Amino acid sequence: TGDTTLDVGFVNTASCQSAITYIDGDAGILRYRGYPIEQLAKESTFLETSYLLIYGELPSAAELEEFDQKVRRHTLLVEDMKQFFDGFHRDAHPMSVLASSVSALGTFYQDSLDPRDPESVEMSTIRLLAKLPTIASYAFRKSQGKSLLYPDNKYDLVENFLWMTFGQPTEEYEMDADLAKALDLLFILHADHEQNCSTSTVRLVGSSEANLFASISAGIQALSGPLHGGANSAVLQMLNDIHDSGGDVKEFVRKVKNKEDGVKLMGFGHRVYKNYDPRAAIVKETAHDILAKAGDNPLLDLALQLEQAALEDDYFVERKLYPNVDFYTGLIYESMGFPSSMFTALFAIGRLPGWIAQYREMINDPATKIGRPRQVYVGEPERQYVPTDRR
Ligand code: CMC
Repeated sequence: TGDTTLDVGFVNTASCQSAITYIDGDAGILRYRGYPIEQLAKESTFLETSYLLIYGELPSAAELEEFDQKVRRHTLLVEDMKQFFDGFHRDAHPMSVLASSVSALGTFYQDSLDPRDPESVEMSTIRLLAKLPTIASYAFRKSQGKSLLYPDNKYDLVENFLWMTFGQPTEEYEMDADLAKALDLLFILHADHEQNCSTSTVRLVGSSEANLFASISAGIQALSGPLHGGANSAVLQMLNDIHDSGGDVKEFVRKVKNKEDGVKLMGFGHRVYKNYDPRAAIVKETAHDILAKAGDNPLLDLALQLEQAALEDDYFVERKLYPNVDFYTGLIYESMGFPSSMFTALFAIGRLPGWIAQYREMINDPATKIGRPRQVYVGEPERQYVPTDRR
């Protein structure tokens, strides 16, 4: 196969043209549809940013209101879906529950499966945006042995998620506006990141004209790995381990540098960013604010020390390894009351509008072809079959 060039991990291969997200990894710049992430983080909401990613422009006030109403109308899950939650094992990982449930949406909403029909894609878009937080909160509550709560559509998308996750049927729920705002901000920061592993998965699955539910379900599975979205819970695990073994960050950095037992500094490094991840900078500020409110957290001090030790170390400097978005998010999610098993599900809620926008861009692009990478064959040359009695 003389014309096939190997690019393991697609380090240097562009698979599509896209007008959604711009990253300059050397300068640490991230923009959605041209808008700097810092501005969106400060000024926008997750719902508005979702609209921007999916439809390409910031909505007018009336468009945003209509979008909000549509999403609120679809937050309920069809009752039969609840049997899935009864059937899953109580210890099931929320990411498996999320992916399976999103896949199952395709069995219920058969009127929104046709990728060639814009109305059908629009319906599945709204359904997914509205229902994924409901599914995630149910995954959480089942793991805690708690009853499931119906969405309450007096709340916006993020507040509703908090209500369904932390509310009690017998008590008045007091919405914590600061908490809702902080979570909304984190969702904005996660909302798209061009052709990362899960987004490329969504596009690859969708390139066969598989429906949106099937493609997003595959994206959720891709996100679950510790090198991708799973890193946020791996960071917390790492910080706890360092804390429990005496809190010596220098010793941990030494282990990482020597690649002892394959130990990595989780939440550090990025395929594209060779500079400070702009999302991590915003998350770090937020972590300070939120954790200050929740009281002293020894793990935040440890994370700050670890970051400092790594940024001053030649190993990390030479390889241009900086904190990524996952380095501080786990600490924040934990202080919000989420168990670490839920962290990656929160990432999935945040990333959903990006996946949807990318899927829609792909199916509307006349240049799209089914994704079908080539390989360089390194196996045996032709040989002759030998029956078992002569092997
Ligand atoms: N700790 C220690 N060494 C590292 C790390 C790390 N976190 N990341 C990269 N390196 C080293 C790597 O061993 C290699 O060294 P050498 O040249 O001596 O072999 C060099 O840096 C280049 O790394 P790479 O593995 O070739 O880089 P990549 O682009 O293939 O991988 C990555 C990117 C994010 C998978 C990797 O940096 C990593 O595993 N980081 C830890 C997991 C993590 O935080 N993931 C979240 C990524 S951001 C959000 C998301 O996508 O979900």
